[in-house]
Amino acid sequence: MEIIGLMFILVFSAGIRTITSFTDPQDVAVMQSLKNQWDHVPPSWKSSNDPCAAWEGVGCNSSRVTSLGLSTMGLVGKLNGDIGGLSELRSLDLSYNKGLTGSLSPSLGDLKKLSILILAGCGFSGTIPSELGGLTQLSFLALNSNNFSGEIPPSLGRLSNVYWLDLADNQLTGSIPVSSRLGDSGLDQLWKAKHFHFNKNQLSGTIPPEIFNENMILIHVLFDGNLLEGNIPESIGLVHTLEVLRLDRNSLSGEVPDLSNLTNLNELNLAHNNLSGPVPDLSTMAILNYVDLSNNSFNVSEPPKWFSSLQDLTTLIMEYSTLEGSLPSHLFGLPNLEIVRLRNNNLGSSLNMSDNISQKLVLVDLQNNQISTITLGPGYKNQLILIGNPACASTLANSKYCQVQQPTMQSYSTSLANCGGRTCPADQKLSPQSCECAYPYEGTMYFRGPSFGDVSNADRFHSLELSLWTGLELTPGSVALENAIFNNDGYLQVQVALFPSDGKYFNRTDIQRIGFDLSNQTYKPPMGFGPYLFIAAPYAFPGGGSKISTGIIVGIAVGCVFLFVVLVALGIYAIKQKKRAERAIELSKPFASWVPSGKDSGGAPQLKGARWFSYDELKKCTNHFSESNEIGSGGYGKVYRGLLPDGQVVAIKRAQQGSTQGGLEFKTEIELLSRVHHKNLVGLVGFCFEQGEQMLIYEFMPNGTLRESLSGRSGIYLDWKRRLRIALGSARGLAYLHELANPPIIHRDVKSTNILLDEKLIAKVADFGLSKLVSDSAKGHVSTQVKGTLAIMDPPIRGTSLIGFGKFLDLAMACVEESAADRPTMSDIVKEIETILQNDGINTNSTSASSSATEFANSKATPPKHPYDDAPAIVTKKDVSDSDAFDYSGGYTVPAKVEPK
Ligand SMILES: *[C@@H]1O[C@H](CO)[C@@H](O)[C@H](O)[C@H]1NC(C)=O
Ligand SMILES: *[C@@H]1O[C@H](CO)[C@@H](O)[C@H](O)[C@H]1NC(C)=O
Ligand SMILES: *[C@@H]1O[C@H](CO)[C@@H](O)[C@H](O)[C@H]1NC(C)=O
Ligand SMILES: *[C@@H]1O[C@H](CO)[C@@H](O)[C@H](O)[C@H]1NC(C)=O
Ligand SMILES: *[C@@H]1O[C@H](CO)[C@@H](O)[C@H](O)[C@H]1NC(C)=O
Ligand SMILES: *[C@@H]1O[C@H](CO)[C@@H](O)[C@H](O)[C@H]1NC(C)=O
Ligand SMILES: *[C@@H]1O[C@H](CO)[C@@H](O)[C@H](O)[C@H]1NC(C)=O
Ligand SMILES: *[C@@H]1O[C@H](CO)[C@@H](O)[C@H](O)[C@H]1NC(C)=O
Repeated sequence: MEIIGLMFILVFSAGIRTITSFTDPQDVAVMQSLKNQWDHVPPSWKSSNDPCAAWEGVGCNSSRVTSLGLSTMGLVGKLNGDIGGLSELRSLDLSYNKGLTGSLSPSLGDLKKLSILILAGCGFSGTIPSELGGLTQLSFLALNSNNFSGEIPPSLGRLSNVYWLDLADNQLTGSIPVSSRLGDSGLDQLWKAKHFHFNKNQLSGTIPPEIFNENMILIHVLFDGNLLEGNIPESIGLVHTLEVLRLDRNSLSGEVPDLSNLTNLNELNLAHNNLSGPVPDLSTMAILNYVDLSNNSFNVSEPPKWFSSLQDLTTLIMEYSTLEGSLPSHLFGLPNLEIVRLRNNNLGSSLNMSDNISQKLVLVDLQNNQISTITLGPGYKNQLILIGNPACASTLANSKYCQVQQPTMQSYSTSLANCGGRTCPADQKLSPQSCECAYPYEGTMYFRGPSFGDVSNADRFHSLELSLWTGLELTPGSVALENAIFNNDGYLQVQVALFPSDGKYFNRTDIQRIGFDLSNQTYKPPMGFGPYLFIAAPYAFPGGGSKISTGIIVGIAVGCVFLFVVLVALGIYAIKQKKRAERAIELSKPFASWVPSGKDSGGAPQLKGARWFSYDELKKCTNHFSESNEIGSGGYGKVYRGLLPDGQVVAIKRAQQGSTQGGLEFKTEIELLSRVHHKNLVGLVGFCFEQGEQMLIYEFMPNGTLRESLSGRSGIYLDWKRRLRIALGSARGLAYLHELANPPIIHRDVKSTNILLDEKLIAKVADFGLSKLVSDSAKGHVSTQVKGTLAIMDPPIRGTSLIGFGKFLDLAMACVEESAADRPTMSDIVKEIETILQNDGINTNSTSASSSATEFANSKATPPKHPYDDAPAIVTKKDVSDSDAFDYSGGYTVPAKVEPK
C-alpha cells in the first residue's frame, strides 16, 4: 500500500511543482541539488518542494535554512559544492551516514555562519579542505571516524571559537601544525578549545612544544594511536586544566617531563611508547583515577610512592615494565581501587594481601613476576593471577591462582531475565522495557577516558542506562547495554540499543534527534565515563529495503498490480503522444526541411559554430535525462548537464511540453543565438529539434556563470512585489552602476548580475511594474501594456551626477517597448551602454571588462544560486508572469553586425 501511496504522492507533487515556496529560492536550489545528489533521503523530501515547510531534518528561520540534522538517515552519495550556498546555515549534522563518501568540497568554507559541523561516522575521504579554517563561528567540529587522509590543515588554527575538535579515527598523516613566526596559523591558537581528539591516525613527527601554552583550557588531549616520536614536551605541564591525557600507542621516547602541576588529571595514559628515565612521579595528581604506563623503557625501579598514596586510584596498569622489589601492601587498601595489572615485571619476592583490601578490588594480575611467597587474608575473594611466578612452581602449584583460568570478571549486559526467554527475529531485539520485539536504534559507545577499569560493576552501568533514557527522552527502561569491554585501543566500549516508546520503529525525526544528541555531545554520560564517542549502526526504517514483513509483501504485491496497470496505461498514452508529436513536427514545415542537414541551404538555419544534435545523442550524454544530471529547472523546462563524446561538458536546456515554440520561431532563435558572441554570454554549442523536443545546448559554465551570463542578456525584468531589476548586458555596466550607488538608491544584487533599484525609486515608476516582457503580437499572447510615468525622479537621484543614469533608464525603457520592432537590438544595447560608460570616463576596453567581471565574481559575499536553477527563460515567453525570469526582449530581428568575441 505504501507504494500506491508513494505513487499518488509523486503524481500529485509533480502537479504542484510551481506553487510558490516558503523557502528562500537559493536555499531551495541547494536543497534540491542535495536531494538529487543523495539516495535514501527522507520520503518527505520527495513529497514537497518546500524544504522549510515539510522536509524532515531541515530547520529554518525566516525562510532560510539554518540547520540540517540528518544523522543516521542511511544517506548515500557525495557532498557536492552546492552546499556552500546555504549561507545562513548554523548547524550541519550528517553523522553516521557511512554511504556519504568522496572528498569534502572546499565550499563548505563558504558556510560562514556555521557553528556546528558534524560529519562523524561517515565515509568521507581525501584531505580536510583548508577552507574549513574560514569557519570562524565554528564551535564544534567533528570529522572523526571517516577516512580522511593528508595533513591537518594549519588553517584550522583560525577556528578561534572552536571548543570541540575531533579528527580522530582517520588516516591523517604529517605533523601537528603550530603557528609560526611567518604568520601561518596553527592549533596552538585555539584558546577556546577544550577537546583535542586526534587519536587513531598516522600523525608523525614530534609533538611540537608550542602546541601547549598556559593560555589554553584543554581538558581532553587524545593523541593516542599515532606515530608520534621524540619527547613529551614540557609545555604540557602548563595546561593546568587537563583532565584526560592520552599519549599511548606512539613512539615517544626520552624522559617524562615534570607533570606535577596537572593536578586536575583523572586519566594519564602513556603506555606503549619507548619512554625512559625514572618512572614519573604522579604524587601531586590527587584525583587521578586511571593510570597506564605499560610497555615503556623506564629505569629499573621499586614501585613508586604514589602507588600507595593516590586515594582516588581505581585502575593501575603498568605491564611489561621494570618494577622490582615488593608491592606496598597499602596499595590494595586504596579505597577506590578496582583493577591492578602489573604482569611481566620483576616484582618479588613476597606479596602481602592479608588485610585492609579495597571492597571494590576485582582483579589483580601479577603474571610473570618473581613472587615466591604470598600472604592472603580472607578479605579478598576476587580474581588474582599469579601464573609465571616462582610461587606457582612450589607452594601454590595447585591453587586456583596458578591455573590458566577464564576471566571471572563478567562484562556487563542489561538483563532480559524478566522477559522470560522470549526470542525475536534476527533483525529485531527484545525491549527490556516492554519485552516486545522492536527495531532499536543501535550503535557502539566508546569511552576514551573512563575513570574506572571494572566493567562488571552493575551499578555503574545502571546509571548509564538511566542517564541514556532520561537524557535522550526515551521511555524509562528502554535502553539495553551489552558486552562492555576494554578494547585493544584501551577504550571502554559498550553496545547500546535504544527502543522506541511504542510500536516497532522510531520515526526519522526521532532518529535525527537522538543521533544529533549523541553526535553533538548534547547527551552527557554520568560522572566517570569521560569523553565518549558514539557510532550508530544503520537504522532499518520501515519500507527501507531488506527488512520485509508479510504485511509489506502483500502491500508490494497489490502495488505491483497497480503499477502494471498504470504502466500499460502510460504506454498507450506515450504511443499516442508520440504520434501527435510526429504530426506536430510534420506541421512545422519551414523547419522540418532543414533537419538534420545543418547546411546552409533552403530553409536550413544559418548557424555559426553551432551544430545539430540528435535526440538519441543527447539522451546518451545525459544518462537518459536522469535526475542526477539535472542542474536546474524552471517554467520552461529543465536544464541537464551532459558530457559529449569529445569530452566537452555542456548544459542542455530542454523545453517541456507546452513551452515549445513553432519551428520557425525556434529556427530564428537558434540563428540569433549562434551569432551572438560576447565574452559575457555563454556560447551556443548546438540544438536539437526532434521527436517533439526542442533543446538548446550551451557551453557548460561550472561556477554559476550560465545564470549570470544568461541574465546578462539585456533587458529589464521585474520583481513585482518589491523591486525593479535591471539586468545588464555586461559586467561593465554593472560595475558602472555600482558606482552610482550613492546615495543608496541602487543596490547590487550579489546573487546575480542584477541591479536592484530602491523602492523609493519604484514609487515613482510603479506603473512600470505592470509591464511584462511578453512576446510581440505574432502569437497573440496576452500582453500587458507598458505604461511608465517614468523619470519623475526622486530628488536624491536628481541631486547626484547621474548623467549616465538618465540615459540608462531611457535605454531600459526602450527595452520594454510593446512591440519588438521598437526595442533596440542586442548590439544596440551593448553599444549604448558602452557609450554611456565612455561618456563617464570609464575604460571599457576588454581587459577591464574581464577584470571587473572577475572582481565581481570574487567579491561576492554569498555564492550564486544553484547555477542553472531559475535560469532566465530566453527561449520561452510564457513563463514571465510566474517567475522572476525576464524575457529576451530583442525580438527576432537578427542584427546584421554582432559584437565580436
Ligand atoms: C531567527 O532569526 C532572527 C533574526 O535573524 C533571530 O533574532 C532569532 O533569534 C532567530 N530565531 C531562532 C529560533 O533562531
Ligand atoms: C581509506 O583510504 C585509503 C586510502 O587513503 C584506502 O586504501 C582505504 O581502502 C579506505 N578505507 C575505506 C574503509 O574506505
Ligand atoms: C607549577 O606551577 C607553579 C605555580 O604556578 C610554578 O611556580 C611552577 O614552576 C610550575 N612547575 C612546573 C614544573 O611547571
Ligand atoms: C627505546 O629507547 C632506547 C633508548 O632509550 C633505545 O635504545 C631503543 O632502541 C628504543 N627502542 C625502540 C623500539 O625504539
Ligand atoms: C635513569 O635514567 C636516566 C636517563 O635516562 C639516567 O641518567 C639515570 O642514570 C638512570 N638511573 C638509574 C638509576 O639507572
Ligand atoms: C608490550 O611489550 C611486550 C614486550 O616488550 C610485547 O611483547 C608486547 O607485544 C607489547 N604490547 C604491546 C601492546 O605493544
Ligand atoms: C515521531 O515519533 C514521536 C514519538 O516517538 C512523535 O512525537 C512525533 O510526532 C513523530 N514525528 C513524526 C514526524 O511523525
Ligand atoms: C550542542 O552541544 C553543545 C554542547 O554540548 C550545546 O551547548 C548545544 O546546545 C548543543 N546544540 C544543540 C542544538 O543542542
